[in-house]
Amino acid sequence: MKRVSVDRDLVVAQAESLFSDEPDPIANAANLSALIFATFEDLNWAGFYFVRGEELVLGPFQGKTACTRIAHGRGVCGTAWAQAKTIVVPDVHAFPGHIACDSASESEVVVPLVVAGRVCGVLDIDSPRKGRFSDDDVATLERLALAYARTLARVPEAATLGSEA
Ligand code: SME
Repeated sequence: MKRVSVDRDLVVAQAESLFSDEPDPIANAANLSALIFATFEDLNWAGFYFVRGEELVLGPFQGKTACTRIAHGRGVCGTAWAQAKTIVVPDVHAFPGHIACDSASESEVVVPLVVAGRVCGVLDIDSPRKGRFSDDDVATLERLALAYARTLARVPEAATLGSEA
């Protein structure tokens, strides 16, 4: 099995640097997806879903084509939204209601994006390896999601996005 080593502080600093001059949420989500996909080994999907009314709608991502809409409380993404907390799934086949967008996925982490107390989307990361995500990986993904959520807080319409956390 490959050793996975990510310089966690460096990848967070790279994300913050990418965000520092760019306010656009789509541009920043696209770059963060690419940064995560290129930095963490053994991933098959990394990207965003954003809250649009009662559903999550697909945002920028890296990986194979994915389902475009997920209802509140459905799948890992909808559960992270409903519970407003990070969901770590070491084995997706053991998660009731998991939505299989890419049949290669074996483990998954979903981190909610919380802005001003409201969930306005999720960061979703999939791996083709069971138990891929260590506690340190999850903590780093949460730092990246927080850095991204802070960029949303700079956007005036962010106050109207999402549901209360
Ligand atoms: N597995 C997710 C669906 C999104 S894809 O993994 C990209 C879920 O169960 O919500």
